[in-house]
Amino acid sequence: MSDYPSTNGTAADVVPPDAVWQLRERIRTKQAVIGVVGLGYVGLPLAVEYAGKGFETVGIDLDADRVDRLNDGSNYIEDLEDDTVRSLVEEDLLSADDGFHRADDLDVIFVCVPTPVTDNNEPDTSYIESATEAIAERLRPGQLVVLKSTTYPDTTEGVVQPILESAAEERDLTLGEDYFLAFSPERIDPGNQEYTTANTPVVVGGVTETCSTIATEAVEQIVADVHTVASPKVAEMEKLLENIFRSVNIALVNELARLCDRMGGISMWEVVQAAATKPFGFMPFYPGPGLGGHCIPIDPHYLSWIARKYDFETSFITLSARINEDMPFYVAESVVEAIARQPVRMSDADVLILGVAFKRNVDDTRHSPAETVIRQLRDKGVKNIRYHDPHVDDYQVRYKSGETADIPSVELTPETLEEHEVAVIITDHDDLDGEMIAEHAPAIVDTRNALEGITDDARREKITLLGGG
Ligand SMILES: NC(=O)c1ccc[n+]([C@@H]2O[C@H](COP(=O)([O-])OP(=O)(O)OC[C@H]3O[C@@H](n4cnc5c(N)ncnc54)[C@H](O)[C@@H]3O)[C@@H](O)[C@H]2O)c1
Repeated sequence: MSDYPSTNGTAADVVPPDAVWQLRERIRTKQAVIGVVGLGYVGLPLAVEYAGKGFETVGIDLDADRVDRLNDGSNYIEDLEDDTVRSLVEEDLLSADDGFHRADDLDVIFVCVPTPVTDNNEPDTSYIESATEAIAERLRPGQLVVLKSTTYPDTTEGVVQPILESAAEERDLTLGEDYFLAFSPERIDPGNQEYTTANTPVVVGGVTETCSTIATEAVEQIVADVHTVASPKVAEMEKLLENIFRSVNIALVNELARLCDRMGGISMWEVVQAAATKPFGFMPFYPGPGLGGHCIPIDPHYLSWIARKYDFETSFITLSARINEDMPFYVAESVVEAIARQPVRMSDADVLILGVAFKRNVDDTRHSPAETVIRQLRDKGVKNIRYHDPHVDDYQVRYKSGETADIPSVELTPETLEEHEVAVIITDHDDLDGEMIAEHAPAIVDTRNALEGITDDARREKITLLGGG
């Protein structure tokens, strides 16, 4: 192994092979111990992937419940197979820790902690900072740190690197020679059976060329297709582009869906399906009740924030956020209209929300548009709101007053449908029984075209389709 790249081509930066060689060897021979900080929707599947490839993998999380469950061999992420998690734990390939007790053993450390926004929609990098501080405290030669949390360009070099460097200086360790740092964004798409952690290409950008090389080799252990870019900033920006691309395109179809409703007689769903027959230059996006989850509604704010520091206004982000954030209000209006068409007072009306997860076939309710729809309906005087979601056992909504209320969950039966004046399809889970809903609900607001298969006039008349014209 004589092909170690220099960090920037100067003689002073030529990398001494020891730490580099040893770490590469440990990765290549699967002796490297993998640490995954943050065992959530991103971290646990990643840990399972490495453990499944034969790497001893230690997950670290502050949530004692998650740690205990994992050490008991119990899976809590829907997309993962229970048996896979249990057998990896039984084989001692996968374990969890509520702290960095085994920090010295870890060769490669992935950081998969949350990146929320503050009340002012500014980046909250405190989770990244505290995880990095914990790593820095125990940093030793031969460790690679890979940040995976979605964040604004310059977080790796501007936030993580200085924390590691201040600890490294005390120990006389040099970045790119003794320890290594890279950013590699996560692309997991919960609920997607076709593309998983294993078969989705991954982008990697190291702080130095050596960092890139080692991080690429580490990621290649679980993913065949790794695309290495020039720097962490490119990788950070690339991830935001992916998410903003979705946000902007969804906003475009949402706006046109509302236009179709105003004009009447044009279904936006049919329009998109027709446009999608073009084999080049078009990618279908569909209208919906608003964005949800931990990524698409949040991440664009990270870029807007950093852009403002450069006196730059990211107009596409602002505009698309405004359109998408207005969608649940628009849906609530449709529900109120559907109630008003029936002989019932708003305060006596019963509304059934079908699906509170933010998207199809997942149990994640973070930032789900269901919450805003429910809040709005409450504000309009609708008191009796229940939900059905086969993926979500309990659901709470925080009202503007600060009060948090449990929304009662009900089974989906002909009787429950008949007992509610309006059924509102927010999430089109695969197991939603469209025939039953169309048959028994007095009125339906369908925000996902989930009842596309219902074609007879009598039942179609009961359906208000978002963007249906
Ligand atoms: N969920 C997704 O589909 C998805 C997809 C791509 C990228 N991302 C990004 O990945 C990151 C993680 O998202 P997630 O959905 O997995 O979050 P999550 O909330 O499901 O999991 C994060 C975990 O980190 C733990 N944690 C927080 N601070 C910690 C610390 N200092 N030390 C150890 N553990 C700590 C939490 O207890 C939690 O279990 C975010 O930046 C998100 O934007 C998420």
